[in-house]
Amino acid sequence: MKTVTIENIGKYEDEIVTVRGWLTHKRSSGKIRFLVLRDGTGIIQAILIKGEVEDEIFQLYNTLTQESSIAITGRVRREPRSPGGYELLVSSISIFQIAENYPITPKEHGIGFLMDHRHLWLRSQRQNAILRIRHTVINVARQFFDSRGFILFDAPIFTPSCCEGTTSLFRTRYFENENAYLSQSGQLYLEAGAMALGKVYSCGPTFRAEKSKTRRHLTEFWMLEPEIAFADLDEIMALAEELVVTIVKGVLKTRQKELQTLNRDIARLERVSSPFYLMAYDDAVQLLQDSGVSFVWGDDFGGGDETIISNHFDRPVMIHRYPAQCKPFYMKNDPERPEVVLCMDLLAPEGYGEIIGGGQREDSLSELEQKIAHAGLPAADFAWYVDLRRYGSVPHAGFGLGIERTVAWICGIPHVRETIPFPRLLQRLYP
Ligand code: 4AD
Ligand code: MG
Repeated sequence: MKTVTIENIGKYEDEIVTVRGWLTHKRSSGKIRFLVLRDGTGIIQAILIKGEVEDEIFQLYNTLTQESSIAITGRVRREPRSPGGYELLVSSISIFQIAENYPITPKEHGIGFLMDHRHLWLRSQRQNAILRIRHTVINVARQFFDSRGFILFDAPIFTPSCCEGTTSLFRTRYFENENAYLSQSGQLYLEAGAMALGKVYSCGPTFRAEKSKTRRHLTEFWMLEPEIAFADLDEIMALAEELVVTIVKGVLKTRQKELQTLNRDIARLERVSSPFYLMAYDDAVQLLQDSGVSFVWGDDFGGGDETIISNHFDRPVMIHRYPAQCKPFYMKNDPERPEVVLCMDLLAPEGYGEIIGGGQREDSLSELEQKIAHAGLPAADFAWYVDLRRYGSVPHAGFGLGIERTVAWICGIPHVRETIPFPRLLQRLYP
């Protein structure tokens, strides 16, 4: 007898198979009893019919509790009305464990309660769908880079210095006498990688001690970062667009079921195609002012501003050339307009806001040294980074895509906290 997974059950129509999993719920209508089982790959209804199964097995129904772990053996029957299209006519059941009172019941629970039970909440169909989509987003993105000749280049997590501003650094002790900071972005190291390997990318955790309690901020999040030698702003803008289109197409292709579980408006994702909208920062400021926001040129957009801007477009929009004053030290000024830098942010539609930030890097030795000094950063910590401009400096560019914000947008869910297995937030470190 075969042990099979629920997602593959259709291959075994009319055969007797065993499925192992957890009981999500059960119901009884006299002589017929239903057990709904999930195994991580799907859910299936198993049917116990009095008289057709041994009485001992029929009576086991009474002892089974929500999330009890069991193996059910039975005949696979096609049933278009049941979820997944098949059901199981039970012939026997074996029990791994009878679960104690499971805390997450079918009634509504508050978000605080669910987050406290995140280790169990992960078992719900909704969380299963989100995490499968996350898997596909990362997988498709990595294939995208792999198939274009990029080399995976893992940046360190312990770093001696900052990348994205000193205010959001997590500091930790590094043995007796030194401090280390958790990486905010692999970018500076990826630049060294690009000078060594040409085209590189990383996909790993990054950390920001951001005291913001918003639906877009985690303190630990995953970033996908390509970096390319000899590339300019235009080239990475085109690459970012192609990447996002490829990710959305990949999810649409393989995760229809999950998108349905989430009630995602699929038509909106199908609209995500090239070309994206392009807008200079100056025009985005104008758009905000026309919408009644009192925004001054020179500031960076807040989450609310991005929502207003991205709501104007039915596809992603790329905003380029922000004022130098609101961006990190490593950005290169536009030679035609030194008050702005050669950077871009990609805003997802439907009010989701920024999912990608990137641009062209300062490649002049003297300019970079000045920028580091101007930002008040300790020159010694950046000596290695400055070296990259000393030994064969070339124009280069890259960007970072936030995995969780991208997943939240594609899933159409309001908060990033459900897009990562164990979210780390301003007020949450448990479980
Ligand atoms: O725009 P950011 O800060 O860019 C960088 O860190 C660059 N060094 C990346 C590069 O050029 N290689 O961050 C990039 C993306 C954002 O667009 C956003 O999607 C995500 O990372 N992000 C966050 N996601 C969740 N929580 C946070 N606190 C985030 N901060 C940034
Ligand atoms: Mg940014």
